[in-house]
Amino acid sequence: MNNKQQSISGRSLKTIGKYLLVVLAISGLVSCDSGNSVDEPILIKFPHVTSPITPKGLAAERFKNLVEERLAGRVVVEVYPSGQLMNDDDSIEALAFGEVQMIATSLSKFDRLTNKFQVFDLPFLFPNLDVIEKFQTGSAREMLLGAMSSHGLQGLGFWHNGMKHFTGPVPMSDPEAAEGLKFRIMESDVLQAQILQIGGSPQKMAFVEVYQALQTGAVDAQENTWSNIYSSKFYEVQKHLTVTNHGYVGYLIAVNSAFWSDLPDDIRTELEAIVDEVSTWANQRAKSINEEALNKIIASENSQITYLTAEELKVWQQTMRPVWDDFSDKIGADVISAAQAASN
Ligand code: LMR
Repeated sequence: MNNKQQSISGRSLKTIGKYLLVVLAISGLVSCDSGNSVDEPILIKFPHVTSPITPKGLAAERFKNLVEERLAGRVVVEVYPSGQLMNDDDSIEALAFGEVQMIATSLSKFDRLTNKFQVFDLPFLFPNLDVIEKFQTGSAREMLLGAMSSHGLQGLGFWHNGMKHFTGPVPMSDPEAAEGLKFRIMESDVLQAQILQIGGSPQKMAFVEVYQALQTGAVDAQENTWSNIYSSKFYEVQKHLTVTNHGYVGYLIAVNSAFWSDLPDDIRTELEAIVDEVSTWANQRAKSINEEALNKIIASENSQITYLTAEELKVWQQTMRPVWDDFSDKIGADVISAAQAASN
């Protein structure tokens, strides 16, 4: 039995267990008390996959500290970084099942639940984090935060990581260099199309598996932010890093809608305020955290850094542009225009 089948059958067993509990509760044989009695603090389990020193790791820790300071004795936050508790795919499912209460998962990874976030994966659509910030805080914000309400998930805000760059066994000043390489990508159909567009072979893979896959040669290349490339040591097993800024890694802070609406009003209001405060704090720091990570990679002298000329950048943009046409209907012309308008 492979890992995927094991996790699916594990999930089925849990689902059956929950069904039995519901049946027993209805028949009065067990109590439905979730464990959060009036005296017990509400527990927010918050798993994520990056290191504590990344923009997300620091933001999650700050969220925990502010909550435990301002809602002392009423809410406890357990942060599980570096995929200690589960990978991102499992965390989305666990949130829907109410097994964890908050996640900050890459927008790309909600691909199975909504097409709206595919806009964030369109190559070269957003030139930098400032434009993304403008889009995420503009007229499309509420629509994006509510994009998965039919799946019982509510978005509370967005945290940036940074812009993505390619790493691999060769410099990629020209997209032709990517031909025939196996690229690890996040679980996103747009990213899959993007790699096919440059002649590479895309492999969807969980973040926690990437280092080993690069080290053993199971994949040749990948795309990510400097802070992820540094903190997860991808630069130690990749000879060449090409500065492309071709895409974005950012997160949706999401909660289970039922858990959220069941919270006492004053607690929910305070938590919303803290999420907003942490989002501002974190999003102001993301760029410099990524710059520092790049400087550390350069100082390590482990990998060669290649910068694109204006001409080379143009070739990259033109080569990847057809991906937009493949997904514009699914994403919606209104969302794409709002994203483009943010650049003006
Ligand atoms: C990745 O899988 O490469 C990223 O989504 C990891 C992260 O959470 O930044």
